[in-house]
Amino acid sequence: MSYSFKITKTQQSSLSKVDFNNIPFGKTFSDHMFVADYIHGEWTNFEIKPVAAIPTHPGNMAWHYGQSIFEGMKATRDAEGHALLFRPEMHAKRINVSARRMCMPEIPEELFLQAIHTLVDMEKAWIPPQTGSALYIRPFMYATDETIGVKASETYKFIIFVMPVGPYYSQPVKLLAQDTYVRAVVGGVGESKTSGNYAASLLPATMARKEGYDQVMWLDGVHKKYIQEVGTMNIFFVIGDEVITPNLDGAILAGITRDCMITLLKDSGYKVIERPITIDEVLRADEDGKLVEVFGTGTAAVIAPVEKLKYKDTVISLDMDKRHISKFAYDTINGMRNRSIEDKYGWIVPA
Ligand SMILES: Cc1ncc(COP(=O)(O)O)c(C=O)c1O
Repeated sequence: MSYSFKITKTQQSSLSKVDFNNIPFGKTFSDHMFVADYIHGEWTNFEIKPVAAIPTHPGNMAWHYGQSIFEGMKATRDAEGHALLFRPEMHAKRINVSARRMCMPEIPEELFLQAIHTLVDMEKAWIPPQTGSALYIRPFMYATDETIGVKASETYKFIIFVMPVGPYYSQPVKLLAQDTYVRAVVGGVGESKTSGNYAASLLPATMARKEGYDQVMWLDGVHKKYIQEVGTMNIFFVIGDEVITPNLDGAILAGITRDCMITLLKDSGYKVIERPITIDEVLRADEDGKLVEVFGTGTAAVIAPVEKLKYKDTVISLDMDKRHISKFAYDTINGMRNRSIEDKYGWIVPA
């Protein structure tokens, strides 16, 4: 099925004002955005138009009751300059996982994908040419009923905007395991990419940064011992010859990079196990000299090696010279993106 979009082009592109060698993260928007409305039980008013503020009534339900979900993905260029997307259909599916949990309407996958392809094609010139830089794509949906009273909104907006972002080198990160505040519990909304999860993370993240740590490592809300994920990444531990990542229990975001990592490492002969893992097990593995690598996975960095991990009074330091598995996976995914390595999975899609 093909949807019909009304397209209004900007009279004044701001592309020439952008210095692709120096892009402040998250502040530079391209010229156009996609907008759709959900009214009377269906998606309608498909439009691509110049990026502009959208006036919002003070009674807008999204402000008050938090029905707001989003995705984060990237368009990049291969070595020959062709624009490509990475597993866009997975993002189309995941936004609907979020929508179902937040009692919001699903977005037909074909609509989501057509909107991404059309917008990215229009904004191709905004994909930075530098290796490692990308066009960050932010699809999101929020409630628009102007009603006070806790219930699901009947109307919504689905918007996609894109922004050029500079190279994101996979710098080693320092993690602080959080044993007071929790991000999510089983049965809650942890597996939904909903704004409130990120709001809940801000105070502990600020506290961690004050202590000199980059991100919080979340523990489960009941026992405060099972590791969930970190900041905006899923987490992997290499213990002995096993690669362990927490299983998806509903409290953890099902990361698309996580899925790639599991597939890639299994196919390359590594023993990858998805199971509950406690912070004590990680500390013990370190004491026994069996903790080889710890790394986070996510769209932003692809893979971020962990160099330091603190829990209560214990600080683990990882040997960055031992990060063979994470380096292999990082190089493979980036190789697929620039087409120097064959993509046998069909993850890379022309934009
Ligand atoms: C909370 C959280 N966990 C994990 C991830 C990693 O997911 P992905 O690999 O799909 O970017 C993200 C980023 O989207 C995130 O926000």
